[in-house]
Amino acid sequence: MAIRLDGQAALVTGAGRGLGRSFALDLARHGAKVVINDYGVGLDGRGGDPSVAEAVADEIRAMGGEAIGNAGNVASHEDAYRMVKAAMDTWGRLDIVISNAGFLRDRTIHNMAEDDWAAIIATHLTGAYNVMHHAWPVFRQQRYGRAVFTSSNAGYLGNFGQSNYGSAKAGLIGLMNVLKLEGDKYNVMVNCLGPGSFTRMTAALMPGDRAAQMSPDLVAPAVTYLCSPDCQDSGYIIEASGGAFGRVAIVENDRVQLSEPTADDVAEHWAAITDLEKARPMWSIRQTLEQHKAEKQQPR
Ligand SMILES: NC(=O)c1ccc[n+]([C@@H]2O[C@H](COP(=O)([O-])OP(=O)(O)OC[C@H]3O[C@@H](n4cnc5c(N)ncnc54)[C@H](O)[C@@H]3O)[C@@H](O)[C@H]2O)c1
Repeated sequence: MAIRLDGQAALVTGAGRGLGRSFALDLARHGAKVVINDYGVGLDGRGGDPSVAEAVADEIRAMGGEAIGNAGNVASHEDAYRMVKAAMDTWGRLDIVISNAGFLRDRTIHNMAEDDWAAIIATHLTGAYNVMHHAWPVFRQQRYGRAVFTSSNAGYLGNFGQSNYGSAKAGLIGLMNVLKLEGDKYNVMVNCLGPGSFTRMTAALMPGDRAAQMSPDLVAPAVTYLCSPDCQDSGYIIEASGGAFGRVAIVENDRVQLSEPTADDVAEHWAAITDLEKARPMWSIRQTLEQHKAEKQQPR
């Protein structure tokens, strides 16, 4: 199997640095043309520098690839429209969207100012909605699309002091869960990534000598696979860090039926109610993933 993305067009947000830059370069190495979006902000999301996106677009062009720099803000609905339009105007298609732009404003909940909450939700969660809203009509018309949202274990597992960030990153799981259903009949696959890598965002949290071992380049192969026609899975959360890859899932068990239940009955059956031994991942509120896969294999 040789994964190639020749003739395909991609949009990667936050692609001027760190993980996004590695994702964009790897997509380009596999033949994709890439819109490099980056607002060029500081670590706390303030400021803006258009040269950040352009520098990575230059890198791709220097490798012999095709790229457009875009210095828009993903939190702006109009800027997100212009990112999608840039791909359509230049290449007439958009096959891949990676929603990755982001920054941190960590505070414990009692210190979390309204602006720190709103700015993080606007960029990580609303930013993903913005690009997907504008890319979706293109995906539907092409009857093809691949999307990856950079989530975080701070959202689906939890990390102290990151209520804004964790909520936004968990929100991306909800967005994925719905879009995977809306995209199913259009061959649109939507997945989430839980990365771990040494970037400016995490430099203060990891010893500097782990930079090579935790390079974002070791995460990028998961994203390239998820964005390829070879990937036929949707709604997965894939963890990737230091060259190690795995999966996280929300699972559901069989409910315990109680007759005329009281709180005492719930307490009495608590061990069975919360037992996950036979729990399985779901495709939707109606079907397990297994049932969905079996149904898809049925001749229509
Ligand atoms: N590094 C990790 O270990 C790690 C772990 C989990 C999740 N993440 C997530 O991965 C993504 C990339 O993070 P990174 O570590 O590469 O950080 P980074 O700071 O190196 O890169 C993020 C880029 O996003 C850009 N950006 C920020 N706000 C933007 C906006 N509103 N519009 C457009 N661009 C914007 C920044 O300018 C920056 O270049 C983020 O969403 C982050 O939350 C990172």
